[in-house]
Amino acid sequence: MAESRNILSENKDGILYLTINREPKLNALDFRTLQEIKNIFNEVNDNKSIRGVILTGAGEKSFAAGADINEISELNELNARKFSESGQEIFDLIETCHKPVIAVINGYALGGGCELAMACHIRIASANAMFGQPEVNLGIIPGYGGTQRLTRIIGKGKSCELLMTGDMIGAEEAKVYRLVNHVLPTKEEAMAKAEEILHKIMSKAPLAIGMIVDCINSVYEDRENGYQIEANSFARCVKSEDYLEGTAAFLEKRKPNFKGE
Ligand code: COA
Repeated sequence: MAESRNILSENKDGILYLTINREPKLNALDFRTLQEIKNIFNEVNDNKSIRGVILTGAGEKSFAAGADINEISELNELNARKFSESGQEIFDLIETCHKPVIAVINGYALGGGCELAMACHIRIASANAMFGQPEVNLGIIPGYGGTQRLTRIIGKGKSCELLMTGDMIGAEEAKVYRLVNHVLPTKEEAMAKAEEILHKIMSKAPLAIGMIVDCINSVYEDRENGYQIEANSFARCVKSEDYLEGTAAFLEKRKPNFKGE
């Protein structure tokens, strides 16, 4: 397994436990963390000792509170498209992985964190989980596939509402919208539920599991186009004054003053 610092990894009896390990920053996904996720998932399919993956965040408070806003605040139109496309590519690696990948969501799953959870095959939340795509508060939109996956999972109307308001929803509401499969009172119980499901899947034929992943993903065969529109729109947001204002306001811990420019 590739060496990593921001993603802790441990293989226990065929289950690869991955933990996003930036607790002081609520496990925000900086470039390094994403690169480490990419390196790991590049290995998972071919590594025979791995039969399933559980992905979670360190601590009790957050799965991942989004892309790292310090890095986002320095994007320009050119590198923003690349930023979006490379994130989409990494999350695609997870979605197309032939081994089952379960997200255990322990707290905030916001922005890129919600997008990461949605790229996993199955989502299990603890009761304190909070979901949302608050990019609009920063003058941008989701860039890691969130506009596409959220709409597929929860449907157009609710997706519009969440993306346009930037509102967060709790675990029980997320379950109503089928954004999560199960809600358990604590992180430990959510983890135990993920293990129970994974053990059941691991007792089935591995080739069939890989084929199920391919077949389910093929339902969304128009995906390339939607992803391209998302990356282009993300890059156009980064050209705006509102993006500079939105990210600066977050970092300066004040309310943004958007002007529509
Ligand atoms: N990127 C970078 N740093 C982040 C972050 C992010 N997405 N989310 C949280 N952090 C950092 C905070 O800046 C803070 O760092 P500091 O202690 O050095 O000041 C630390 O994590 C703790 O966050 P804080 O805001 O103090 O915690 P809170 O409990 O008051 O609020 C949130 C929690 C999740 C509501 C709030 O952190 C938040 O809104 N985060 C941004 C979410 C977001 O917009 N994500 C999408 C990004 S595209």
